[in-house]
Amino acid sequence: MQLDPAALDAERIYKLMIGAIMPRPIAVVGTRAPDGSSINLAPFSFFCGVGSNPMTLCFCPANDEAGTEKDTLRNAKPVAEGGSGEFTVSVAPHRIIRQVVAAAEGLAYGASEFELAGLTPAPGVRVRAPRVAESPIAFECRTLQVIRTNPGAPSGGNLVLGAVELIHVDDEVIDARGRLDAARLDLVGRMAGLGYCTTRDRFDLPWGRAAIKGA
Ligand SMILES: Cc1cc2nc3c(=O)[nH]c(=O)nc-3n(C[C@H](O)[C@H](O)[C@H](O)COP(=O)(O)O)c2cc1C
Repeated sequence: MQLDPAALDAERIYKLMIGAIMPRPIAVVGTRAPDGSSINLAPFSFFCGVGSNPMTLCFCPANDEAGTEKDTLRNAKPVAEGGSGEFTVSVAPHRIIRQVVAAAEGLAYGASEFELAGLTPAPGVRVRAPRVAESPIAFECRTLQVIRTNPGAPSGGNLVLGAVELIHVDDEVIDARGRLDAARLDLVGRMAGLGYCTTRDRFDLPWGRAAIKGA
């Protein structure tokens, strides 16, 4: 079967994307309104690292069904575009995954999903956006750019590129050799539909052609 995305509606394409690109890590994105009056929290699984020199990451809040920007994008976009120019990304371990998913509730602009989800906002050090106190790793980010693939359209994509200004790491997720410990982190991934997975079934492989030798 071959599928031409130009012949498919956005919902079918979305289902193909979340069914094919998985598991996806979950960015729990904290923002503050540009006037400072409210805070916001929402999970985003269209999320990845971009580069390490300088440290950059991105996440993608799509436009809602009316084609308008989600609260997170409204807050996180650059100052020149009317936003605060800042956001935080906290990671999602299994022990808080229910609260993280609860934060996807579409509350009115200005209402805090921290409160609804029962997660604690910890103040940023370099940014005014809050992070999740219960998360073992959080990145404080300055927004570099937003790339919009279909501005104003329902489900139009928005890539928010951020420079990491500060990293918070709990000592508890560091192993004896000073490395991040996947077992202690116990992060969750998003699958299709309402599905999630843990990162508990792991294996190692040597790099490159050596990877096929032991098969
Ligand atoms: C685990 C999870 C991952 C999500 N990933 C995305 C995503 O990558 N992009 C997106 O637009 N919405 C995503 N959502 C939906 C948003 O979290 C939801 O629309 C939320 O209300 C947006 O909040 P905001 O309007 O406060 O920014 C996801 C929801 C869940 C539960």
